[in-house]
Amino acid sequence: MKVGFVGWRGMVGSVLMGRMLEENDFAGIEPIFFTTSNVGGAAPDVGVDVPPLKDAHDINELKALDAIISCQGGDYTKKVFGDLRGAGWDGYWIDAASSLRMKDDALIILDPVNDGVIRDGLARGVKNFIGGNCTVSLMLMGLGGLFKEGLVDWVSAMTYQAASGAGAQNMRELITQMGEIKAAVADDLANPASAILDIDRKVAETMRTGLTTDNFGAPLAGSLLPYIDTQLENFQSREEWKAEAETNKILGRSANPIAIDGICVRIGAMRCHSQALTIKLNKDVPMADIESIIANANDWVKVVPNNRAETLSDLTPTKVTGTLSVPVGRLRKMSMGPQYLTAFTVGDQLLWGAAEPLRRMLRILRE
Ligand code: HSE
Repeated sequence: MKVGFVGWRGMVGSVLMGRMLEENDFAGIEPIFFTTSNVGGAAPDVGVDVPPLKDAHDINELKALDAIISCQGGDYTKKVFGDLRGAGWDGYWIDAASSLRMKDDALIILDPVNDGVIRDGLARGVKNFIGGNCTVSLMLMGLGGLFKEGLVDWVSAMTYQAASGAGAQNMRELITQMGEIKAAVADDLANPASAILDIDRKVAETMRTGLTTDNFGAPLAGSLLPYIDTQLENFQSREEWKAEAETNKILGRSANPIAIDGICVRIGAMRCHSQALTIKLNKDVPMADIESIIANANDWVKVVPNNRAETLSDLTPTKVTGTLSVPVGRLRKMSMGPQYLTAFTVGDQLLWGAAEPLRRMLRILRE
């Protein structure tokens, strides 16, 4: 199988390369690396023979591939995909961009949750397999069991999204902002006799006027940004709109959708998205059953007992970052009634939220 890789050098692409090396995914395929800037340059060392870098816009080169995995982003997909299909290419297109995600001839891939939908699609001849929005994928990796058991009436998802979802430059900017705040009060902090309200005043002044905001467009460090992505006419943000649209598409039930809505918020975490969920169940299910349904849904979800010590130890971005683990905790029935369940979940935005479903799709194609 000739597999082309585009955008392998960027942040998501680098995570993908790392995971593919860890899982020995390059053995048994013929990887061909593409570039938008360095044609003829050396391809990365992935343990098998690879030709020099090819031009990512050369339709003839791309046409020779059985599958293409692109982490190059939506603009590249928009530029190349139509021409490639127009030229008669019949291979598998796998990417993580939102441009093709909701198209009728594309499926959203998250195989631990929708393996059956993916395999039905393959049998029907679907060729476009697109990674989902990170927040949606992480919510389903955590709570997929409840959906699979048909227990969910509706969900309200309030998110706490990391800087990485906005891009590599945004991660840098978050740390820069943190440093700028510290620098503004470093002397006062070092002096135990300084007044906290003076420090607070200087911090607020720095946050309002002195932070680098080229990428976020607003101060994030020490604060939060309750708007992600663009504004829609119905007053949802596009990120909020994706929750219902993509979840139902992943589950193969767009014709009979479960309502999912909430507010998406950027916080100062590096690469883990968290979500606080209110789930309206369609019946009163005992907590022990709920916990085992959630915990047994896939190999990566883990139920964290709802106590303070284990929550603070195991249910934070700091704990989860850089791992495939998807903990779900704070599980309890709410005071609204026995059908109202609350949950908190955390997941790495670059792994299950972006790169991991892509490499797993390639594995499925090779079966
Ligand atoms: N849109 C997401 C975010 C990342 O801004 O966090 C991509 O899925």
